[in-house]
Amino acid sequence: AQPWRVGLIGFGCVGQGLYDILQQRPEAGFTISRIAVKTPDKVRPLPAGRFEFDAEALLNDDSLDVLVEVIDDADTAFRLVSEALRRGRRVVTANKAMLARHLPELVQLQRAGQGTLLYEAAVCGSIPIIRTLDAYFGAEPLRRLTGILNGSSNYVLTRMGEDGSDYAPALLEAQHKGFAETDPTLDMGAFDPRSKAVLLAAHAYGSFLNPEEVLNLGIEGISAVDIAFAASNGQKIKVVAGLQRLADGRITALVTPQLVGPESPLYSVDREFNGVVIEADFAGEQFLQGRGAGGHPTGSAVLADLAALRQGFTYQYSKATTPAEYASDLEVEIYL
Ligand code: HSE
Repeated sequence: AQPWRVGLIGFGCVGQGLYDILQQRPEAGFTISRIAVKTPDKVRPLPAGRFEFDAEALLNDDSLDVLVEVIDDADTAFRLVSEALRRGRRVVTANKAMLARHLPELVQLQRAGQGTLLYEAAVCGSIPIIRTLDAYFGAEPLRRLTGILNGSSNYVLTRMGEDGSDYAPALLEAQHKGFAETDPTLDMGAFDPRSKAVLLAAHAYGSFLNPEEVLNLGIEGISAVDIAFAASNGQKIKVVAGLQRLADGRITALVTPQLVGPESPLYSVDREFNGVVIEADFAGEQFLQGRGAGGHPTGSAVLADLAALRQGFTYQYSKATTPAEYASDLEVEIYL
């Protein structure tokens, strides 16, 4: 078979990670045919002739089999992705903030038979969590999801705990390693894991939460003293996202620093690793762990989506009936 022609929009950490993986794995069967970026005058690791500056032009190119959107800006990303779907295109995105805000519309576009969208790379980097929830647990009720969904803040907390590092140098390290968002407040203030929790809720429960209504507290106020105090009690401080189905069917969601003890599988999820504990009605408890940030792990999730699209895989959202409106986190109906 001919390799699939990929149109890449964005060439930051994730775009470069994907590019590098495909260079190393030509047998994967995907070629990056066009690359659109925003700023012409930036130093990039490829010849200038590889780049173009009008992403719209890629949407119009029918010779491309799939578009990969990995830019920073959520508004531009939504405009491009929704337009691509309207044109019936296959799209892979890693843009969690954009997805968390616009998922109901994006699901509707796909349900109207317009295009296909996959986004495994948007949540927990290399961990196949969206596909696990959507496909594997598509028919099974889930009680609770508990997860570390942000690599950068987990990295900072881990470094502070290891040698009493201060917050600022630990954050710089996370930035240098390519884990952090361009605006690190999104990581440290737990806005990024909040977006990811919203995406998990959509696939785990069929509930489309409004991200603004999910409580998120970050780690800016946590000191080495707090971490040492937790350690003296045999615990660690972790930013944990919790999603829970209440007895009456409503869903609660929140993302906050919590004390985690060794009885939890999340206790040993350190550095940029992410982990998710799934509690299912029949399967019982499962735990997935892997690298949650970084060019290669996240690029690997994009590659997995490309391969899945080639096999005809689509998300089913089988627990959702009407994704038309956001439901408040405390007034959610679930459709099981
Ligand atoms: N900034 C994100 C994180 C990248 O640290 O987890 C992966 O989504």
